[in-house]
Amino acid sequence: MSAIAMETQILGNSQAASVETIRPFFSVRDVHAYYGESYIVQGVSLDIRQGEILALLGRNGAGKTSTLRAIARTDDPQLRQGEIWLDGVPIHQMKSFQAARAGIQLVPEDRRIIAGLTVEENLALARVAPGHGWELEQIYQSFPRLAERRKQEGVTLSGGEQQMLAIARALARDLKLLLLDEPYEGLAPVIVQEIERILHSIKALGITTIIVEQNAIAALKLADRAVILDTGEVAFAGTAKEVLDNTELRHEYLAI
Ligand SMILES: Nc1ncnc2c1ncn2[C@@H]1O[C@H](COP(=O)(O)OP(=O)(O)OP(=O)(O)O)[C@@H](O)[C@H]1O
Ligand SMILES: [Mg+2]
Repeated sequence: MSAIAMETQILGNSQAASVETIRPFFSVRDVHAYYGESYIVQGVSLDIRQGEILALLGRNGAGKTSTLRAIARTDDPQLRQGEIWLDGVPIHQMKSFQAARAGIQLVPEDRRIIAGLTVEENLALARVAPGHGWELEQIYQSFPRLAERRKQEGVTLSGGEQQMLAIARALARDLKLLLLDEPYEGLAPVIVQEIERILHSIKALGITTIIVEQNAIAALKLADRAVILDTGEVAFAGTAKEVLDNTELRHEYLAI
């Protein structure tokens, strides 16, 4: 039985059981989202337990970035139908700043390091809005490279260091769900390994992560669960291991 079928069966038999023990920490329910009239996210659903890492995969243009943006409640794409729940809190009616305050932090592909600001100022700015997370000293302990470069302008950092800064900035907020869009893009394998170690330690703290990555093998090795999108719909949902073990699925949707 697949993990999803098993979960459905457990949920189906659960009327008498405590809902608290089985309710997923984060849940996307039949989400439909549009850029203008372009219908892109076409009924996506996914569930994640607290502290899990979910790999969101699929070919170019499958709708991965759009799904992350819909979850983070950016204005584009516009969410027209469906629900998003984080730890019992409805996110689907929120604006992006409210979703961020609720603990959803999106690290976009271009990382959005603010030009003209040092590493430390980029981190300090993240702490201006309500919903504080890690203190600067805690961040510097976990990211020694950022500590060394704290007075350097953020945009002059290497790609890997900018990715670390973007993740650190999410940790400076009250982080419950980390959304990472192509975090390994353009990075050397040794830097990818360093970021993987950071993501493992974030997971150990109980923070939940969705990772979108072209390097599907790396993402699947890191992740507990996997969802594969195809033209804006869920083509597969299950464990990361199921995808790693399923050559057909990998060929068809991931070209690996
Ligand atoms: N701002 C936009 N306006 C209109 N259509 C868009 C916009 N952004 C993306 N799209 C379209 O939505 C679809 C999904 O794009 P999206 O960026 O979500 O895919 P993706 O899975 O992240 O792809 P990639 O692997 O290339 O990053 C594509 O057909 C794309 O052309
Ligand atoms: Mg994308």
